[in-house]
Amino acid sequence: MCGIIGITGRPDAVDGIVAGLTRLEYRGYDSAGIVTNDGRDLRVVKRAGKLQQLVKALEAQPLATSTGIGHTRWATHGEPTDRNAHPHVDPSGRVAVVHNGIIENYQALKAELGDARFASETDTEVTAHLVARELDRQPEDARDLLAAVRAVVARLQGAYSLCFVALDAPDEIVVAKHEAPLIVAHADGVGYCASDVAALIAHTREVAALLDGQFARIAPDGVEVVDVHGEPVEPHRYEVDWDLAAAEKQGFPHFMLKEIHEQPQAIADTLRDRLTVPPNGGGPRLYLDELRIDEHELGSIDKVFILACGTSLHAGMVGKLAIEHWAGIPVDVEVASEFRYRDPIVDPHTLVIAISQSGETIDTIAGASYARDQRAPVIALVNVVGSTLAREADGVLYTHAGPEVAVASTKAFTTQLIGCLLLGLFLGQVRGRLFASEAEDILARLQSVPEAVQQVLELDAQIAALAERYHDVDYTMFIGRHTGLPIAYEGALKLKEISYLHAEAFPAGEMKHGPIALIEQGSLVVALAPAGRVFGKMVSNIQEVRARGAAVLAIGTEGSTAELKAHADDVLTLPEPPHELAGPVLSVVPLQLFSYHVATLRGEDVDQPRNLAKTVTVE
Ligand code: F6R
Repeated sequence: MCGIIGITGRPDAVDGIVAGLTRLEYRGYDSAGIVTNDGRDLRVVKRAGKLQQLVKALEAQPLATSTGIGHTRWATHGEPTDRNAHPHVDPSGRVAVVHNGIIENYQALKAELGDARFASETDTEVTAHLVARELDRQPEDARDLLAAVRAVVARLQGAYSLCFVALDAPDEIVVAKHEAPLIVAHADGVGYCASDVAALIAHTREVAALLDGQFARIAPDGVEVVDVHGEPVEPHRYEVDWDLAAAEKQGFPHFMLKEIHEQPQAIADTLRDRLTVPPNGGGPRLYLDELRIDEHELGSIDKVFILACGTSLHAGMVGKLAIEHWAGIPVDVEVASEFRYRDPIVDPHTLVIAISQSGETIDTIAGASYARDQRAPVIALVNVVGSTLAREADGVLYTHAGPEVAVASTKAFTTQLIGCLLLGLFLGQVRGRLFASEAEDILARLQSVPEAVQQVLELDAQIAALAERYHDVDYTMFIGRHTGLPIAYEGALKLKEISYLHAEAFPAGEMKHGPIALIEQGSLVVALAPAGRVFGKMVSNIQEVRARGAAVLAIGTEGSTAELKAHADDVLTLPEPPHELAGPVLSVVPLQLFSYHVATLRGEDVDQPRNLAKTVTVE
């Protein structure tokens, strides 16, 4: 939600900010803006609409200085208009701010400023007013922007990464972080800050993530990080393990399509080097990237909660199947935003697995931290290295999918599925339910998944033709059982989020308890029907919806499609997976492609669907 970038120390700072905003636009794209600081004036250009509107405005009204900050917005308080776009400036024009998050007590803070004139309806603007007031209170010859920001931030409630510039400190950018991501960097005499490394990767791969409660003064001669008391502290430094090319479209018309096609490689990267020979001897064992939990502690786990949102939640549903199957531990999969607002029974024998592509989803982070407060160990299954969730968890399994830019998650999902299988095998091994050799054998079989996904990608022309046939249907229902059910949910989510078609998913067995009433002539039912334990039941459910007028598109496997062809209008044949629990990794791919083609046929903006943002850092 909202992307922030700041640059100081380069004559072409404005170009760098605009380029950075291009990489951050996935975080929010209803308006964008930029402010420069030359020590005499703060000059602001901001526009409602996509970043392109700002770029056009900057062509007509060029800005040039070596210090500036920029923002791309996903509106929370105040509609997406020019005046609500960030940056916001205090009435005297001396302090400007951009913000990601929500200031919950902004009304009380505004009231305190009496009849001050506010130029926007946002929660953010008040912080510029307050910092300007703090600067006024400081001695004229010793104005300190960092101290002023610290004083104001101490009074804020909510979640924020805030980034300020002020006329009193022409070369400085001052930032504050609490529950919203913020990265700082310094390279070749230039200081940087951004919401995400993607915005900085063109300049440096050496970055530092601020922790909650940290502040930074960013200047051409270096970055100073302090805590709430102003004491110097070390942020979390790391090196980004991917390059600029990974964050570009590389000839594909959309990031989503590029990322769909990257899946064989991404899955291979997730599976790579997962066996280790323990130092105290014995055969090879599965391991996680970082495990700060004693394996004996994991042996005493009697319950698992998987916390996630959206697509990651659907991966968690497969995680449940894998952990219950291999490790024999009961698993609940929880919508992260619900978890901490009820009274979940969590204790030190509960393992919490938090799944998130970004590692910055506020609900997932909050659920995980609630669990840690109850002294439950937390493992994060995360894509973004160095993200908040990865840092705060006791153990981390990285999906190594590389940057995912399209709002609709694809390669992050399939690599999360692989991560879930690895976790199931790992827990099975730790608890002695699986011999290390069995885990090794299954892992060896999983090595064929990237090749099988490649075969599915080669069905693209057939899938595009199906999209052509069905892109105007009134209603789409996805049904599945067992491993097919999470993919039914994911297929419906993909279709609705980028094509805006009405799509829902149900367990196929639940149909006759209500949802089948929705089926009529003109409906499309997408049925996940691989060969295996529930195939016969799926065939019955397909017949039921077909008898009521729905067209049926069945996603089968080599062992099931001969029979499916007798019952469905269209059948896609996928390779048999190397293990039934790996089936979802294959069966989601045609649904990703189907959604992609439907959305492009309908003329929708695939990479930036309406009302959405990639990283959800507000509740
Ligand atoms: C859908 C999608 C979202 C995310 C959800 C969680 O395509 O991308 O549903 O899965 O917002 O995000 P992460 O995984 O970053 O926690």
